Amino acid sequence: MMEFDFTRLPAPDRYRLLTNFVGPRPIALVTTRSEAGHDNAAPMSFFNVFSQEPPIVILGVQTRADGAEKDTAVNIRRTGQFCVNMVDMELAEAMILCGINFARDIDEPALAGLEMRDCRRIDARFVRRSPCAMECRVDRIIDFPRRAIILGEVVEMTVRDDCLDAQGRYVDPSVYQPIARLHADNYIVADRQFVLRPPPQAKAWEAGLDLPVAGRGVMELQPPEGA
Ligand SMILES: Cc1cc2nc3c(=O)[nH]c(=O)nc-3n(C[C@H](O)[C@H](O)[C@H](O)COP(=O)(O)O)c2cc1C
Repeated sequence: MMEFDFTRLPAPDRYRLLTNFVGPRPIALVTTRSEAGHDNAAPMSFFNVFSQEPPIVILGVQTRADGAEKDTAVNIRRTGQFCVNMVDMELAEAMILCGINFARDIDEPALAGLEMRDCRRIDARFVRRSPCAMECRVDRIIDFPRRAIILGEVVEMTVRDDCLDAQGRYVDPSVYQPIARLHADNYIVADRQFVLRPPPQAKAWEAGLDLPVAGRGVMELQPPEGA
């Protein structure tokens, strides 16, 4: 076993270890409005959804090396609003371009060739080709010296036409294949999905009528379906 004392480890080592093991992490391409009125976009993989009641997503935005806040955090503090655009292979290259620390007055979506549309409920724009764009209002911001943990309530979702089934309920796994960040510059695409269900005996086990035999294989892998 290798052991790491996180109370003594320098921050870059903590970052490396945490992000090497906690993954794949979904990527939010966060779009905001700058003070000058242009679009700002930045990928954030310290991101996830944590609740549907209320519908809360969370971003972890680091300060820059000199301690200054990133444009995303500056814009979110000023407007109280941001949009999370999910990212698939089609948007991968643009996402990486948006991750470059450009000067504050640079319109990253324009630079990356992203077509944008006005959000409906917030003053920002979303990426038209994003499989799913979530318009968020800030619920609260938890400030650490070098990191802002931003909780956003999703107030509107716009889904690309081909991503959901005809009833608008479940994603089509052959179409919606998000990319996610692994370690360093490594990414993964969700193109090898499978179905994993609790076995039929689960209800009886939960009711305490019976118990599984330790180590007995109950896994039955199936190809993906809407879920
Ligand atoms: C895939 C990916 C994920 C990233 N995740 C984060 C993150 O969670 N938090 C963060 O502060 N920066 C993250 N970054 C770096 C920012 O995107 C980068 O600093 C960006 O230039 C910030 O832009 P802004 O100043 O317009 O906000 C990530 C970069 C990439 C490529």
